[in-house]
Amino acid sequence: MKITPLHPSLGAEIAGVDLSRPVDAPAREALGRALGEHLALVFHDQSLTPEQYLHAASVFGPPMEQHYSQHNMADFPLIGLIWHRNGQQPAEAWHTDHTNRERPPAATILYGLEIPSAGGATSVASMRAAYTALPEDERRRLESLTTFNGLDGHADTKAEDRAKYGHLVEHPMVRTHPIHGSRAVYFHVSKTDHVSGMTPEASKRYMNGLLERMIRPEIIYQHRWRRGDVLVIDNRATMHRAHGDYDRTESRVLWRIIVGGDRPRLA
Ligand SMILES: [Fe+2]
Repeated sequence: MKITPLHPSLGAEIAGVDLSRPVDAPAREALGRALGEHLALVFHDQSLTPEQYLHAASVFGPPMEQHYSQHNMADFPLIGLIWHRNGQQPAEAWHTDHTNRERPPAATILYGLEIPSAGGATSVASMRAAYTALPEDERRRLESLTTFNGLDGHADTKAEDRAKYGHLVEHPMVRTHPIHGSRAVYFHVSKTDHVSGMTPEASKRYMNGLLERMIRPEIIYQHRWRRGDVLVIDNRATMHRAHGDYDRTESRVLWRIIVGGDRPRLA
């Protein structure tokens, strides 16, 4: 296994791993540590069946149910399809996935099957670097705040998903990484009903203002997809977004798996 950093702030390419084959215990441990350190891992030229992909994803944690079950693969409901032709809009706002769970996913894993000829990248920002760059008084303030997270307002969310995943879950706005031990800023604007002590409107203004100040080009790794890429994103210390800047007559198909993690805590 060879690990090559892709960007000064985050991201690394992993060479010498065929994810269609079983990954042994030492390699699993090395990959888990690499994710905690580099926050985004890229594997090129993979060729995976849904079963193989689920096995590979489990290196990073147990696959979890996704709450937009209308987009899950029929025979493999732990794999979600990201595909604009089934009515989805690219998720272009910065976010981290499924913050409405008590134990949100440690990682989101994307496998690129159909890639447009231009555009359609996925960007990942280091919220560890964002935290470090904040002035001391602002870090202390964020450490004192929590968010209350529910489902965001997708009109096509199924009633059963709303019933299971719609209640509010509280998380700290700064969380400690369970493997790396570092701190990162942690919130999801559209899943946050409110920040502790703020109205919903003030909460949105506050979080959007934070994003404007924190997300700078130097903390972003932009992944330009090639067919067969697997991108593993560490949700505990990053935010990500899709780029909708591609020709919608072309196809962009990614398979998504989210894997279980710890309950966010500030230590
Ligand atoms: Fe996402």
